[in-house]
Amino acid sequence: MEGIFITMEGPDGSGKTTQIDLLKKYLESRGYDIVIAREPGGTAIGEVIREVILNPAHKEMSHMTELLLYASARAQLVSQVIGPALLEGKAVICDRFVESSAVYQGIGRGLGVDTVYEVNNFALGDVKPKLTIFMDLDAEEGIKRKKKQANLDRMEMEDMTFHKRVVEGYRKLATLYPERIVPIDATLSIEEIHNRIVEEVEKRFFMG
Ligand code: TYD
Repeated sequence: MEGIFITMEGPDGSGKTTQIDLLKKYLESRGYDIVIAREPGGTAIGEVIREVILNPAHKEMSHMTELLLYASARAQLVSQVIGPALLEGKAVICDRFVESSAVYQGIGRGLGVDTVYEVNNFALGDVKPKLTIFMDLDAEEGIKRKKKQANLDRMEMEDMTFHKRVVEGYRKLATLYPERIVPIDATLSIEEIHNRIVEEVEKRFFMG
């Protein structure tokens, strides 16, 4: 069996985690061993980098430093976890991946999407997802859902203009790469969203 690599994207509070759990169960029923990774983090080194990036005390962090830290955590995750799992024929679901950097750092921070892809292509080599699910949710709604949680991290503390740019960025990427990035209305019910995701997975991995 060939490995499967799927990434899950969307603004903060868009319900990625719930859908990842359901997708995991579905792929298990298809006979796959599953690896779930979250970004930034997913390795011991990556979790330390995550702490540095998201710590609200690190107000002085430059945008380029932020981009490179995300890319470093991702490079480690790919070499230590994702690459080996795919070679073993497993299904890998990653909670955020390169598109998060493209929209948060490339568009939100204004570093430019091309720069972000360039840095990440260098960091990751040829490990690329075949399907990217984009949980499409207005920024206001996402942050409203998040604020019910106690502590906001350094990214979540950004203002609404930033989060709106992020969502617009995702929508733009979905139109630029429609063969890979699939937007799904995140206001639908949990079950409806899951069914849409399964449809896309079957189309890409189990048909033809
Ligand atoms: P996380 O706790 O994973 O948020 P969520 O539960 O919403 O996925 O926090 C990760 C934060 O880091 C999130 O605000 C998005 C941001 N981020 C980037 O800015 N660039 C990136 O490359 C990645 C992976 C995440």
